[in-house]
Amino acid sequence: MKEKFNLPRGTYDILPEDSGAWEYVQRTFMRIASLYGYQPIVTPIFESSNLFERSVGDSSDIVRKEMYRFQDRKGRWFALRPEGTAPVVRSYVENGMGQSFQRVCYMGPMFRYDRPQKGRYRQFYQYGIENFGSNHPFTDAEVIAMAVHFLKTLGLRGYRLEINSVGSIESMPVYDQALREYYSEYTDQLCPDCLQRIETNPRRLLDCKVETCRKIAEDAPVILDYLDQESKEHFQTVQEYLDLMKISYTVNPKIVRGLDYYCHTAFEIIGSGQGTQDALIGGGRYNGLVEQIGGRETPAIGFAGGFERLFLAMKAENIDVPQAPAPDIYLAVMGKEATILGIGILCELRSRNIFTVFDVDKSSLKAQLKAADKSGARYALIIGDDEIRRGIMVLKSLETRSQQDIALDDINSVEQVLGTPSLFPDWQQELT
Ligand code: HAM
Repeated sequence: MKEKFNLPRGTYDILPEDSGAWEYVQRTFMRIASLYGYQPIVTPIFESSNLFERSVGDSSDIVRKEMYRFQDRKGRWFALRPEGTAPVVRSYVENGMGQSFQRVCYMGPMFRYDRPQKGRYRQFYQYGIENFGSNHPFTDAEVIAMAVHFLKTLGLRGYRLEINSVGSIESMPVYDQALREYYSEYTDQLCPDCLQRIETNPRRLLDCKVETCRKIAEDAPVILDYLDQESKEHFQTVQEYLDLMKISYTVNPKIVRGLDYYCHTAFEIIGSGQGTQDALIGGGRYNGLVEQIGGRETPAIGFAGGFERLFLAMKAENIDVPQAPAPDIYLAVMGKEATILGIGILCELRSRNIFTVFDVDKSSLKAQLKAADKSGARYALIIGDDEIRRGIMVLKSLETRSQQDIALDDINSVEQVLGTPSLFPDWQQELT
């Protein structure tokens, strides 16, 4: 019996029919990122597991139970990256980028061992940005504005932006203590995870999804009452800039984020269509992280989102992604001589960025012309024995069915009839 192989649970294949949508969304993200001055950075898919333990935090769910940790042949511990911020910060510090790059963007697979469900995978694809060197509240607002701009550009409307301040690094212990005191009254009702969190990470009690914990969280001390003056002013000013940029938001003091490195502004964009996994985008400030990873004290802020949840939101809002362009030309040849000539023409057309299809396995002209119609090509270019004798090829519009003869060596005329090529209409522009 043949052995059967299946996808690992929580993963999926991106099939060719879906790849157009992926390409479109990725390209849109990169374009918006470059509009805001971000340049791509690519880091490895695995890093020393210590990097995440130190940054995302020992007590976070990600490190405690979701990391794909493994030992290499020399016994060193690595982890498949569960997120992109820590690797980017590692690279920023290691490459001494402080002077040159302040704005970087990235895309790629991340890995978290969680229970798979709609919008939650074990391998998922994040896009994100990280902004280093500015502690100005405008930078917070600008980073949020870029996230919103991206979603808008995709045509999404049914999302909402929620912001919060988790306070300065100094003010956090005061709030954590208030939470500990409040929750100590409820130890008999909390879920086992939350019971542990009272000691290790009390702010995470606020976003537990278990119903009884949620009820208890309703009356918990509110973080905004524990902000020091600096944090209050920072948060207030971020809101003023958001207002100035006409970006709608609500303040949600329960946004604490699941990663330990945040301070001051934290935000989430909640979409439609993802069920309980509804955060399209999450981000915030992490002023202490660069120093923690061995760099100089550097304020920083960023966000990341998962492509899968974007697709779910787009589907929920009936947003179609642009279709992959159809070929410009379907080349149909008949006979050996025409095939040899046709291959030369095929190469020439492609060298001029003209999307040309040639199916070497179809020998009859009838089958080729049928396939030409099916392919959605704008034109068929037909060369048979008769055409060769007359020194011409026939360019036939598959829309109007009208046709014209063009001399066999006159590719310029073919190009002229076609006008703008369908596949890369802005190719030349992109190159310059
Ligand atoms: P995060 O909130 O853990 O933040 O993840 C950001 C986004 O990644 C989520 O809002 C969601 O869209 C997507 N995501 C997370 N886990 C999964 C999953 N299992 N399946 C599908 N999608 C998922 C971070 O990762 C931070 N590094 C964001 C950041 C960047 N903060 C500052 N800079």
